[in-house]
Amino acid sequence: MDTPTRSTADLTDQLLAEAAQFIDPLPTAFERAIRAVPRHLFLPPLIWLRDGHGGHRPCDRATDPDEWLSAAYSDAPLVTQFTDGLPTSSASMPSVVLRMLALAGLDRKSDRGRVLELGAGTGFNAALLCQLCGDQAVTTVELDPTLAAEAERNLKAVGHAPRVVRGDARAGWSAGAPYERVIATFSVDRVPSAWLEQTEPGGLIVTPWHSAWCSGYGTLVLTTTPDGGEGRFHSFASFMPMRGSAPSTADDSGGLPEQVTSSSLSPWAVAGGDLNAEFHIGLTVPGACYAWDASGEHAPTRLDVADDTGPSWATVDYDGHHADRFTVTQSGPRRLWDEITAAHTRWENLGRPSVDQYGLTADAAGRHTAWVEGADGRQPV
Ligand SMILES: C[S@@+](CC[C@H](N)C(=O)[O-])C[C@H]1O[C@@H](n2cnc3c(N)ncnc32)[C@H](O)[C@@H]1O
Repeated sequence: MDTPTRSTADLTDQLLAEAAQFIDPLPTAFERAIRAVPRHLFLPPLIWLRDGHGGHRPCDRATDPDEWLSAAYSDAPLVTQFTDGLPTSSASMPSVVLRMLALAGLDRKSDRGRVLELGAGTGFNAALLCQLCGDQAVTTVELDPTLAAEAERNLKAVGHAPRVVRGDARAGWSAGAPYERVIATFSVDRVPSAWLEQTEPGGLIVTPWHSAWCSGYGTLVLTTTPDGGEGRFHSFASFMPMRGSAPSTADDSGGLPEQVTSSSLSPWAVAGGDLNAEFHIGLTVPGACYAWDASGEHAPTRLDVADDTGPSWATVDYDGHHADRFTVTQSGPRRLWDEITAAHTRWENLGRPSVDQYGLTADAAGRHTAWVEGADGRQPV
């Protein structure tokens, strides 16, 4: 194995400078924690880096130690595990980790309440939590027992011993409750009631968010109350979804016949990269998801829309010429394109709010109510 040429101290300086572009000024406690927790000690010899085309490429410490070490100190997420071709664990992007810790108020924390991390992964974030709150205060939960064991080893190697629990983080970890802070490092589309129950009133739950339509975008910060929680979304972060999600409740009882209509709503307006519009649709049209079909087999460009909880589907075709009229075919008990069109109209009528104008209230029974705050005050969505 070759020896890397750059020192980890230089690389850490560079990482801190990159992180400071997102958190300025970088809290002293964070700088100290990052300096005390060498990120490369948390990484396996084989990691996967973004390839710039939406995929990943391997980076092996044995054959490219310089690139591997530079990657370890880059402000980038590093995939550490693939399962069935999909990334299932990673060392999260350091600036995102720090922004979430800041949202959890850990940059200014002094009373050292208990903290629950959900998704131990490499153990890096748990090590930062130990630096900030003390090992005794930190519990981290990991579903994959092999990853949990590695996280424990990595933490030990840098002198930390928080409680590492093997299990499904959907259930939190009741034995250590109540927590003052709960921080998830995978995304959810609902806040599990166990998290609300195990967080003390006035505590914070910080969790990345996803919906079927807008996979992985936004971070929710809920302040807990005796009977639920309430809080806002923040427009950053994209995390892998929680594993072990409930099985789909697809209903195969057959649907309505196909209906062909035309629509003036461009599929690009709702699935073309406007994260604010896509976030609104994800929040308000549950279960709807999409995929682009540019094969030309059915139309020059087609948007395929499906319901991931049932048999409904829709297609929206662009004929290659007319950008003001699109052919829509819908089938099943839900008229998905009609729902999406209504949601988009509502988003426009609300003044095209951005992700950080949205919030969520969860009650003790697990009911979620999403809302948006605009010029006219708070409105349910
Ligand atoms: C982005 S990685 C975590 C990064 C980690 N915090 C770190 O500092 O390296 C997400 C982790 O969450 C874990 N995970 C996903 N779903 C889970 C679940 N239901 N229960 C526990 N862990 C889960 C994955 O196995 C993965 O290791």
